[in-house]
Amino acid sequence: MAELYASTLLISLTEGGYEPCVFRFEAGEEHKTIATVNDLVEYMARKGLTRSDAVVALGGGVTGDIAGFAASIYMRGIRYVQVPTSLLACLDSSVGGKTGANLAAGKNFVGSFWQPCMVICDYSLLETLPHEYYLDGIAEAVKCGAIMDAELFAYLGNVSPEARRIIKKCAEIKAGIVEKDEREEGIRAILNFGHTIGHAIEKCSGYTISHGHAVAIGMVVISRAAYHKGLCRENFSIPIGNLLTRYELPVSSPFNAGDLAEAVLADKKRSGSHSKIIVLDRIGQARSEEISVTAMRDFIAAGL
Ligand SMILES: NC(=O)c1ccc[n+]([C@@H]2O[C@H](COP(=O)([O-])OP(=O)(O)OC[C@H]3O[C@@H](n4cnc5c(N)ncnc54)[C@H](O)[C@@H]3O)[C@@H](O)[C@H]2O)c1
Ligand SMILES: [Zn+2]
Repeated sequence: MAELYASTLLISLTEGGYEPCVFRFEAGEEHKTIATVNDLVEYMARKGLTRSDAVVALGGGVTGDIAGFAASIYMRGIRYVQVPTSLLACLDSSVGGKTGANLAAGKNFVGSFWQPCMVICDYSLLETLPHEYYLDGIAEAVKCGAIMDAELFAYLGNVSPEARRIIKKCAEIKAGIVEKDEREEGIRAILNFGHTIGHAIEKCSGYTISHGHAVAIGMVVISRAAYHKGLCRENFSIPIGNLLTRYELPVSSPFNAGDLAEAVLADKKRSGSHSKIIVLDRIGQARSEEISVTAMRDFIAAGL
């Protein structure tokens, strides 16, 4: 990805009077690690960056999370700018200031809330994004519609929805939620719809299943489980599954309830004897529920 756009960015920063330097790392979720963050902050130190410098995160969600995390801890925090290049990063991860890296224990086990000072979303960068990664962004957009906006959900079912419109809508929705609850003490949790199971699927797959694809499966599984366990009056796995299938996103888990429950229970969104999950009241409205740790395996099994 850097080979496509880094030189253009370097030229424009230089023309703007800055003195940029470039740190690259291998693409892929398996590189969203403390080791990459460590390499980056060591690089920043070698280059003599001070608190008046800034990090520019040019790339997808992995780059944004890693660069934002490094910026938040380098010299106790310096500024950073998000320049998202994937659909998912444009409509979701570049907004809201969550940064982080994965540990062996699970996804995003370390991280910080650190807001970018600017997000520059240039739609033309998406022209080179491979379709499979584009679909990861669509899955997060479906999530956004499912939890907050029935009109967006319907729009995504159109023959060819415009990326530009989807990005604008999702970014507005997410920014609105984050403004109310930056630290995820309440409403922000609804953005995790499909993520409890999604993160478990990513982890169980050794990160060979991408974030958006895993979240697609996670939304269907949690909605079906919530219906069968009496938490929802309707089975929202049907409209969500139908929409995801139109995009050829996956809707069923390759892992069994035991493996998924084990991964879920290692997740940090558990508080004591309960784990928080997000379910829908209707398409466009979500709420959180608590599932007891002992019931988790049986609950997930109802969704498979
Ligand atoms: N911080 C948050 O709030 C938040 C929210 C959602 C997801 N995330 C995180 O985002 C990550 C997923 O992000 P992603 O889907 O962007 O994956 P990604 O960053 O791994 O990018 C996917 C692939 O697309 C390539 N790519 C990106 N832009 C391209 C372009 N314009 N042209 C060609 N190739 C391009 C990348 O090099 C990579 O190989 C996950 O780690 C997830 O946990 C974070
Ligand atoms: Zn996500």
